[in-house]
Amino acid sequence: MSGLKIAISGKGGVGKSTVAAVWSRLIADQGFPVYAIDADPDANLSHALGMPRVLADSIKPLASDDALVEERTGAKRGATGQIFSLAPEVADIAEKYAVSWNKIRVLVLGAIKKGGAGCACPESALLRSLVRHLVLHENETVILDMEAGVEHLGRATAAGVDALVAVTEPGTRSLETALHIKKLAADIGLSGRFFLLLNKVRDSGKSAETAKMFIPDVPLLGTIPFDDRFIIADEERKSIFDYPDTPELIRSFKQTLETLTDSISARQNATKELS
Ligand SMILES: Nc1ncnc2c1ncn2[C@@H]1O[C@H](COP(=O)(O)OP(=O)(O)OP(=O)(O)O)[C@@H](O)[C@H]1O
Ligand SMILES: [Mg+2]
Repeated sequence: MSGLKIAISGKGGVGKSTVAAVWSRLIADQGFPVYAIDADPDANLSHALGMPRVLADSIKPLASDDALVEERTGAKRGATGQIFSLAPEVADIAEKYAVSWNKIRVLVLGAIKKGGAGCACPESALLRSLVRHLVLHENETVILDMEAGVEHLGRATAAGVDALVAVTEPGTRSLETALHIKKLAADIGLSGRFFLLLNKVRDSGKSAETAKMFIPDVPLLGTIPFDDRFIIADEERKSIFDYPDTPELIRSFKQTLETLTDSISARQNATKELS
């Protein structure tokens, strides 16, 4: 299934980038191009993808590209009290700025300096417009690796998102965050497209039960086992996809991705029948 728009969220360190990266690698491996969008201010998706370091280091975060921000919004990055375009031209940005590797096109959105109530600044307008464009108008699959929340997703953008996946560990702290994300998802109309994925699991039956009790009425895509090889891969700046002895780990990601795509197809078919 191509053309999917999948957003991934969850508490810090739960494995969002790992999931975004392995799913991107799986989709690319099936021959489909995929945009892997690093929408976490603390960007490390290219690292999780196992991209060669020179290539990863060549990616410039869009939010810190002064010339781009000024050219598109008509205002200087970071300056306040300016008039700037809230609907900048973004249609060509993905094509121009993404760094391609093995059918995966990586874009790093970058960090925005926030005031208390978020940022009404030119770079924020640029990123929001870009994400909206990718989600609503891009034909390829898009995977968004986000922080713990739904930053960059307004209601209009959320309308085009096929799934918001909250990655969580079995512990209650990250489940609390997932519950919070569920509420944010409901606020932007994503309730029926919200999913859970359990990562770093040591006892899948027990963890699934806890998650279901903690966050009822949300489909669980499956569980990924805790495994030291993820940590070794991180230390070696590689993806577990690139080791010869990890087929069962890759299979667990494949299964969760298949459960997700089946669920999206079922929903799309049900919507078609209704209309
Ligand atoms: N199933 C797992 N078993 C063991 N370690 C894991 C597993 N999944 C991910 N990790 C490790 O946990 C660490 C955090 O993973 P990752 O960077 O994917 O999380 P994240 O949610 O994106 O973090 P951040 O919030 O910092 O962006 C990494 O060292 C990663 O290798
Ligand atoms: Mg991450």
